[in-house]
Amino acid sequence: METKNRTLVRWVEGVVELCKPEKVHWCDGTQGEADTLFEEMIKGGGCVRLNPDKRPNGYYFRSDPRDVARVESRTFICSRKKEDAGPTNNWEDALEMKARLNGLFEGCMRGRTLYVIPFSMGPIGSPLSQVGVELTDSPYVVVSMRIMARVGQQVLDALGENGFFVPCLHSVGRPLLEGEEDVPWPCNPENLYIVHFPEERSIYSFGSGYGGNALLGKKCFALRIASNMARDEGWLAEHMLILGVEDPDGNKTYVTAAFPSACGKTNFAMMIPPKAMNGWKVTTVGDDIAWIKPDKDGVLRAINPESGFFGVAPGTSYETNPNAMECCRRDSIFTNVALTDDGDVWWEGMTKTPPHHLIDWQGRDWSPDCGRTAAHSNARFTAPVKNCPCLDEAFEDPYGVPIKAFIYGGRRMSDIPLVFQAFDWVHGVYTGATMGSERTAAAEGKQGELRRDPMAMLPFCGYHIADYFGHYLEMAKQVKELPLIFHVNWFRKNPQGQFLWAGFGENMRVLRWIVERVEGKASAKEIEIGWIPRYEDLDWRGLDYTESQWNELMSVNKTHLRQQTLQASEFFSLLYHKLPKELWLQEQILLAKLS
Ligand code: GTP
Ligand code: SPV
Ligand code: MN
Repeated sequence: METKNRTLVRWVEGVVELCKPEKVHWCDGTQGEADTLFEEMIKGGGCVRLNPDKRPNGYYFRSDPRDVARVESRTFICSRKKEDAGPTNNWEDALEMKARLNGLFEGCMRGRTLYVIPFSMGPIGSPLSQVGVELTDSPYVVVSMRIMARVGQQVLDALGENGFFVPCLHSVGRPLLEGEEDVPWPCNPENLYIVHFPEERSIYSFGSGYGGNALLGKKCFALRIASNMARDEGWLAEHMLILGVEDPDGNKTYVTAAFPSACGKTNFAMMIPPKAMNGWKVTTVGDDIAWIKPDKDGVLRAINPESGFFGVAPGTSYETNPNAMECCRRDSIFTNVALTDDGDVWWEGMTKTPPHHLIDWQGRDWSPDCGRTAAHSNARFTAPVKNCPCLDEAFEDPYGVPIKAFIYGGRRMSDIPLVFQAFDWVHGVYTGATMGSERTAAAEGKQGELRRDPMAMLPFCGYHIADYFGHYLEMAKQVKELPLIFHVNWFRKNPQGQFLWAGFGENMRVLRWIVERVEGKASAKEIEIGWIPRYEDLDWRGLDYTESQWNELMSVNKTHLRQQTLQASEFFSLLYHKLPKELWLQEQILLAKLS
């Protein structure tokens, strides 16, 4: 490994001095390097090699039960001014935070190896890509990062002598003292900090080894820091999947969709249309993050900055998402799922009948009647994008794909219909800004609780959320043909608690309507909140769904919607001083219609 980037070399030297690791290793991202690290982790007891006949090149990890998801309450945006972080982010004074972090990182890598991971978010060298370097003392992070991002010498070459990179410092926060034996999943939950310095474009993460807390290219860089870059430079960094829809004539339309964590992005991105919808095809560009920028002709183009999927395992099966199952068939890492007696993995929903015996995510014996789930509800697979059978041909395109529609969606058991289209860009921004969703296991906190999650970015917007809405409105000036904006809800239930919509592949019917709205081919009916398809506007081939079922799914209750709008208004009042006036106006118009 070689670099002439003096800023990088000096930064690494500084961190070595501060954290005092026993060794330093520059990661080349090769399979050989990963093999060696897996071997060491297996010896240390923190990793299991899965049965190579069942899961070739597959590895299994169990985390500390105190370290299983993102921790929003310990995530900080330390902008110079408090008002720049806004009321939806935790903030502390940057100097005080730096002092505290210095204290925590002091000597924190004793007895461990410091790994230097140069990575590119986006195709190496693409004008839409960015370089980061993660310094970590976790070999699990190294093997995960080489799946999730492009890692290695090529990145250093692209960085060159003076290139810019985002420094990402990570430690599990548990030094190994002389003669002390390591634990399988070192972490330090009592002193957890995930900190971003937006003006400096730097990231510090201490105490966790799990997911978005530790794989710093993902939420920390590609969303929180990148959203700051995007605001300054006129683009968007979004919590969005990107997919291509091909119609039977071979016309391709790309759309993005923003759903909150564990609300169906991976499933939607890899959807297999119902058989009866002959000739319709979905291809995947990304399942979690989109970087979207107008090109010189004013066309909005998007790349997926990642190169892997960090997908929710429970609920994923050959029935619900065969493509995801194929993605993690080989070359993948599994965390907090259950282990079968023949060295494979299992999780709730993978098969109809569970195996008779498993070792659960906490290493305990498990049987179907033991009263516990075998996998943690935020158990995940880490799988290379390359494995995806429906990967879009433009995945590596350095210029990205042209985007024709933005779809917002939440997990809403009541009130919100299956789909509606916003009237225009500003109304669409209002629709995204007032999104709500029931909380999932992807982060700490009370599951099921309804919260505002604007554009699915509540935990990921790295600056004041009202300025972010303003940035969306501002973007309209740079874009020639604005994407149409839609809102979907796959999760509506009847009073008995059953889903009103089967979801998964059936969502293709909604997607077809969306794509045909983009092309000006499909018709719709206007209601208070936007345009909705009538029963006859959807393709029903191969599905027995009656008009009265449809009417229940699409019904809107004005009183309930008015309550929803007033709740959103309470959220807006928190942002009063900065909220763009256009959004207040949208609210007034809607309330008038609903009264
Ligand atoms: P992050 O990776 O956390 O950002 O989330 P994601 O949006 O990619 O989540 P994912 O696709 O893994 O969502 C998984 C959850 O959504 C599981 O509980 C699925 O069963 C559920 N789900 C996905 N699609 C549908 C659908 O169409 N209908 C219903 N009812 N549930 C769905
Ligand atoms: C999410 O929570 O939205 C994720 C998982 O995609 S993590 O990378 O852990 O944030
Ligand atoms: Mn996500």
